[in-house]
Amino acid sequence: MAKRISIFDTTLRDGEQAPGFSMDLGEKLQVARQLERLGVDVMEAGFARASQGDFEAVKAIAGTVKNAKVASLARTATKDIDAAWDAVKGAESPRIHTFIATSEIHMKYKLKMKPADVIEKAEAMVRYAAARCPDIEFSAEDATRSNPIFLAKIFDRVINAGATVINVPDTVGYAMPDEFFEFIETIRKNMKFDHRAQWSVHCHNDLGLAVANTLAAAKAGVTQFECTVNGIGERAGNAALEEIIMAASVKKSILDISTNIDSRQIARTSRLISDITGVSVQPNKAVVGKNAFAHESGIHQHGMLSNSLTYEIMTPESVGFKKTKLVLGKHSGKHAFRDRLSDMGIEMDDAEMEKVFVSFKALADKKKTVEKEDIEALVNRHRFRHDERFSLKGFTVQRGFERFSKAEVTIENASGINKELGEGDGPVDAAFNAIEKMTGIRATLKSFSVTAVTEGKDAQGRADIVVEAGGKRYRGRGLSTDIVEASILSYVDAINKIDSQDKKMMKEA
Ligand code: KIV
Ligand code: ZN
Repeated sequence: MAKRISIFDTTLRDGEQAPGFSMDLGEKLQVARQLERLGVDVMEAGFARASQGDFEAVKAIAGTVKNAKVASLARTATKDIDAAWDAVKGAESPRIHTFIATSEIHMKYKLKMKPADVIEKAEAMVRYAAARCPDIEFSAEDATRSNPIFLAKIFDRVINAGATVINVPDTVGYAMPDEFFEFIETIRKNMKFDHRAQWSVHCHNDLGLAVANTLAAAKAGVTQFECTVNGIGERAGNAALEEIIMAASVKKSILDISTNIDSRQIARTSRLISDITGVSVQPNKAVVGKNAFAHESGIHQHGMLSNSLTYEIMTPESVGFKKTKLVLGKHSGKHAFRDRLSDMGIEMDDAEMEKVFVSFKALADKKKTVEKEDIEALVNRHRFRHDERFSLKGFTVQRGFERFSKAEVTIENASGINKELGEGDGPVDAAFNAIEKMTGIRATLKSFSVTAVTEGKDAQGRADIVVEAGGKRYRGRGLSTDIVEASILSYVDAINKIDSQDKKMMKEA
């Protein structure tokens, strides 16, 4: 019988803490619901003590998720553990995940603590946490650069103090598969109580070995894998959930492990993360990249046409990439649209459906075939829309060749409809300048990209923008079959976020 592995997803903690991947409360809740649909066993919802926003998000996720354990990270400090417990205690199955560094270099230079004091602190804080929460995970940060005999000692002590899960993180992505397996074996052989806890690994991808190391650890009795969707996370990221799952499936005869993940939800989860964060997946990324199932060369295409097994070790359908097109035109009714949403596993109430349907109709007017990805992008766009004080009502652009471009932008706000002219280096810059003049909100452009949601000349373009205002960064998104419009919409979206943040700060002052 295959060994059951728990999937501990840390997209919302380790993934979200990486630069450029931050999410707001509504976005985190969307991700949490999708992770539940995907079938993760544990979701690390955040680091409750890090900020008020993180605390609120962990608490909201704990109150929403029913079919997975919800964890909060905490340093081995009473205030961290109190915040973590306050945030997760409303969950069906709460977990506190506490950690302290155990390598010489971390203990000496970061913690400035003696090894014996690190053990005392870990033990005392696990005991403190276990008096509150029934499920306590303990991590030895930078474990792979720590002395395995020291780890054996600290792990025995925290298990005695109430730890239910022992996590061995390869924090700096330093391990190699065989070495990692032997390292865990050495730790366990030198322990008394190793069998009293579940064993877990958490691998970073600095040498591109995170997934290989994770899989190698299973042979040492590890039954929890920590990972993130699209492999996002600190520096080079974490072990990618989708790669672990598909390796387990394709190499079942060798790995002999099973999970609760519904692999057909992988593509949708991956798209949701890149839609929210505005960070596209690299085209050649294993399992979820745009080219992961594309066959460009003639020889490959010939083989594929004769038998798809010639070049495919797994099918696109097995990870949720379906080739089905939705051919609904402007005369199609709401019934067909709702059926399609439910086929795709998207649930919404009538009020939301009415609004998304209007956007769908507008798109069906412009685009020959509306695909699954288009609908997901529309739904996401609609769900992630913020307070809209400013809304785009129209624009015209005049593109100059050897001179500046001009744009006239029409925006509605509480004072009515306003028009403004702007000039700039290209139509998008001209429109951004017009919006800046009209709203009086100054923002510095930090990054800007436009990607096609699907293929074809009539594809929707998704513009993602990052701007800085008042020392803070704001992300904006725009979606349209016209990429200039998508770009302007992304700027207006970012301006609305700056405006609502300003209003919040004024209220708090
Ligand atoms: O990489 C790491 O060591 C971590 C721990 C907090 C588990 O993220
Ligand atoms: Zn990590």
